[in-house]
Amino acid sequence: MCGIVGIIGNEPVAEEIVEALKRLEYRGYDSAGVATLENGHLDRRRAEGKLRNLEARLRSAPLVGKIGIGHTRWATHGAPTEGNAHPHATEKVAVVHNGIIENFRALKNELAGEGARFQTDTDTEVVAHLITRELLAGRDPAEAVRLTLERLEGTFALAILFDGDEDLLIGARRGSPLAVGHGDGEMYLGSDATALAPFTDRVTYLEDGDWVVLTHAGATIFDSLGHQVIRPTQRSLATALLVDKGNHRHFMAKEIYEQPEVVSHTLAHYIDMSEGLVRLPGDLPFDLADLKRITICACGTAYYAGLVGKYWFEKYARLPVDIDVASEFRYREVPLEPGGLAIFISQSGETADTLASLRYCSSEGQHILSIVNVQESSIARESETSFPTLAGPEIGVASTKAFTCQLAALACLAVAAGRQRGVLAEDDERKLVQALIEVPRLMSQALKLEPRIEALAKELSRARDVLYLGRGLNFPIALEGALKLKEISYIHAEGYAAGELKHGPIALIDEEVPVIVVAPSDTLFEKTISNMQEVAARGGRIVLLTDAEGAQAAGDQPFETLVLPQMYQFVQPLVYALPVQLIAYHTAVFMGTDVDQPRNLAKSVTVE
Ligand code: F6R
Repeated sequence: MCGIVGIIGNEPVAEEIVEALKRLEYRGYDSAGVATLENGHLDRRRAEGKLRNLEARLRSAPLVGKIGIGHTRWATHGAPTEGNAHPHATEKVAVVHNGIIENFRALKNELAGEGARFQTDTDTEVVAHLITRELLAGRDPAEAVRLTLERLEGTFALAILFDGDEDLLIGARRGSPLAVGHGDGEMYLGSDATALAPFTDRVTYLEDGDWVVLTHAGATIFDSLGHQVIRPTQRSLATALLVDKGNHRHFMAKEIYEQPEVVSHTLAHYIDMSEGLVRLPGDLPFDLADLKRITICACGTAYYAGLVGKYWFEKYARLPVDIDVASEFRYREVPLEPGGLAIFISQSGETADTLASLRYCSSEGQHILSIVNVQESSIARESETSFPTLAGPEIGVASTKAFTCQLAALACLAVAAGRQRGVLAEDDERKLVQALIEVPRLMSQALKLEPRIEALAKELSRARDVLYLGRGLNFPIALEGALKLKEISYIHAEGYAAGELKHGPIALIDEEVPVIVVAPSDTLFEKTISNMQEVAARGGRIVLLTDAEGAQAAGDQPFETLVLPQMYQFVQPLVYALPVQLIAYHTAVFMGTDVDQPRNLAKSVTVE
């Protein structure tokens, strides 16, 4: 969602704030702004669009204050205009906010009734006015914020700057993340440690409901009841992780190409490479052998990873799996037998619906296991067991490497479950683990298809609709392929289980509709190829992703055949994910869209 930065410094801070915002721009990017105190008085610059617009504004009208707050916005309430960009200010305070104030209408009416003049359509502005009302009533800033927080419903992270006080910043979090950075005689606030990385590696993560008073001298933290509390300060690893594109044109391309490496790191975390067997990190607080059922919840791409996981758990561990998108699951009132296992998959670890589903399952007595890419995230911290994906920071809004790392972790967990439940013998486990160990190499081979895919992308970019078909383990890859294409090229695309085609979507097929068929030569190949023939008979333009055996069996019907290496069925989704990512990437590049920051999307969705 939005990104927040705050600095109490000893030199002008506007430039540093913008640098930090750049590291958060992936969270939301339809407008941005900075406020500082100059000669003790609030002054701000805001701009619609990308951060470079804000930078231009600051070049023509610099801010020289040594204390300030900044924000990149992903609009929830109010259009993404300069007027609605944060910071929002009154004569007393400036506020930046991530999240949603659910009761803002009632508060706005109340404040307007008392004479407050609102300038924006945002929910955030009520926060500035509530604090101002308390300040005007004679409260000190901390008390004014405490009273304001009591009135707010919803999820938020806030940073607040006070007119006339060059030694005070207040931050607060409920639902949305906020971290405090400790410098030498300087203090920082940020939505995550990545934002703070250039300044400090000493970071304190606020707990849900906490609020913090920052001065040059340090941080005083209070919990939701107003009690002063101590939260641990840790060394953040984010400092060491440079965020740049390397030699690639886009972060997404870089991240696609990182997959052989990061998937191998992730596998190495779950596999004893010398034994060739799975070795889960640490003991699980439950016995995989005793489980009767697994529940999996996630959103978007992470949900598709979970869907692959369902096929794996059912086939290799004979464990029934109930899976749903978290936004549906959280309200379904699902009856769950205590002692079951619930798995939550999330790159960011902050997705609001996934977190809410986790809390529901926890209250229903489930064991909570999460698979996350950000170990310091809310989902990781609220899980009984958290399995990391070692993908490193994923900056491209469209998830790529996090997805395959999620698959790697799920595959290992499914094999461990199969073994412990007596479904897999040691020899079976060795074969599956060997297949996994080969995945990074197979991925590198699959990436060699790039020039062919680039040529194909030109053709695809002319399409209005694209269908993706797959069966079994490759059905989620068809869904993922369609999602990737939609989100970054803005071409309408749908993924279908190949057998479902004749139950409706076949009506869409004509010579104008490219159909991408994910069909490696496996036990389901013949069936998928029959579905492909149904498409060919209606003039559909088929792009077949298969292996050499499959290409031979399919003959010359496809318009284009992309030949991947032969591999064990178990690992196909990990490798076939790469050509579908590249198809989306090159189609989007050809069309000239904003690949890393597609319109309307945010990297970390902390509102429902
Ligand atoms: C698509 C994409 C999204 C995310 C979804 C969940 O490319 O990235 O669909 O997968 O918003 O996000 P996380 O994994 O952070 O919970």
